[in-house]
Amino acid sequence: MTSSFYVRGGKPLEGEITVRGAKNLVSKAMVAALLGETESFLTSVPDISDVRIVSELLRVHGVKIERDKEAGTLRMDPSNVERAHVADIDAHAGSSRIPILFCGPLLHRLGEAVIPDLGGCRIGTRPINYHLDVLRNFGAHVDKREHGIYITAPDGLRGAKIRLEYPSVGATEQVLLTAVRAQGITELENAAVEPEIEDLIAVLQKMGAIISLRTDRTIVIEGVEKLNGYRHRCLPDRIEAASWACAALVTHGDVFVRGAEQKAMGTFLNVLRKIGAGVDIHDDGIRFYDTGEGLSSAAIETDVHPGFMTDWQQPLVVLLTQANGISIVHETVYENRLGFTSALNDMGAQIQVYRECLGGSRCRFGQRNYNHSAVVNGPRPLKGAEITVPDLRGGFSYLIAALGADGTSQIHGIDLIDRGYESFRDKLTKLGADFWEE
Ligand code: EPZ
Repeated sequence: MTSSFYVRGGKPLEGEITVRGAKNLVSKAMVAALLGETESFLTSVPDISDVRIVSELLRVHGVKIERDKEAGTLRMDPSNVERAHVADIDAHAGSSRIPILFCGPLLHRLGEAVIPDLGGCRIGTRPINYHLDVLRNFGAHVDKREHGIYITAPDGLRGAKIRLEYPSVGATEQVLLTAVRAQGITELENAAVEPEIEDLIAVLQKMGAIISLRTDRTIVIEGVEKLNGYRHRCLPDRIEAASWACAALVTHGDVFVRGAEQKAMGTFLNVLRKIGAGVDIHDDGIRFYDTGEGLSSAAIETDVHPGFMTDWQQPLVVLLTQANGISIVHETVYENRLGFTSALNDMGAQIQVYRECLGGSRCRFGQRNYNHSAVVNGPRPLKGAEITVPDLRGGFSYLIAALGADGTSQIHGIDLIDRGYESFRDKLTKLGADFWEE
């Protein structure tokens, strides 16, 4: 366990790094392997702690895993899926929310599933009511007990007509992973359609599923009796790519992010262009650089795809502290994802948070006492400080701030960043950052 991480800021990040598969697809594709009767094979798998957690969770359920971390390959053999002890699930799940997505596949394979107390980043209350409602819609029984939630489906699972109150990524994945082998047809209205979900649909189709996506964000799934394994290359991590882009720009640097893919990052690239950042898009990656002409402010609102994704918000806010003028950020996906700004203010930023919906539209958090809008007054020089990583994206954003700050910052809890940023220490070294650990 690392005790402290120190960054001496002010050096431009320069050079090239590579991003591999998206954290938010890899874990779901791994769960999908449980549904197959034969082996599945995933490539471009990043070496992040979330992959280690899901591997262990699969192992305790009897799945054989072979992994080559360097090559980024993962072979999963689900031919002997078995019940796991709740204590083992609990021990391996740690702070991850992924066990909730095991429910559909385990109900199909074993007729029962258990969800321990869930964690995940503390960026809002993050309830699981949509997931439980979805499972009930398929005919599962949900029993909340002291140490977890026990789910059974003694009569099997049946396709259903479902409408999500909000296009939740996880609930959409829950429907997909359950419906593909449920009896009959499932129609899901108001589904989330993030690129990671489309990639999961591609994985499931490779396994033999029948899934269609309508233009009105309705997904129709025709259940099949049997699925096979798959071979799939994960789509690149667009959150990691955007995070390095912001790090390059905050430090007035020049970084080529190999593997970054334009298609899934369009909204982010538009914002960077509009504020005056240097963006060169290539087939094999994207170059992000300081043009030397300064940045202008922006008004952004986070939203489900194809809107500006919430996971880009935190790194972008750090960048906006360096832009000329007043920027407005309206967070509409999580009610509590702006708490990280107070430490940025301690570093010299000028960010004010508001309960009101600032910007274009009213969201479900308006008038409900959540500080979910921010006004960022820039440019403000940042100075080194002692900071503690609050959550995964907030943590990387503090790292970006420290890299751009004058003086030395001490960051506590840096290991949390390993959950979603592969070999970030090696990448920092490659880009010339000045940091050390004690
Ligand atoms: C996924 O979380 C991602 N995580 C998140 O990335 C990402 O921020 C989020 O989608 C939105 O894009 C993974 O893929 C592992 P949601 P998920 O269900 O599926 C509310 C990162 O840093 N909600 O779309 O958990 C919820 O509270 C992480 O990589 C309910 O009310 O997100 C939130 O306000 C963080 N009830 C909204 O919906 C529910 O049962 C959207 O959440 C479920 C969700």
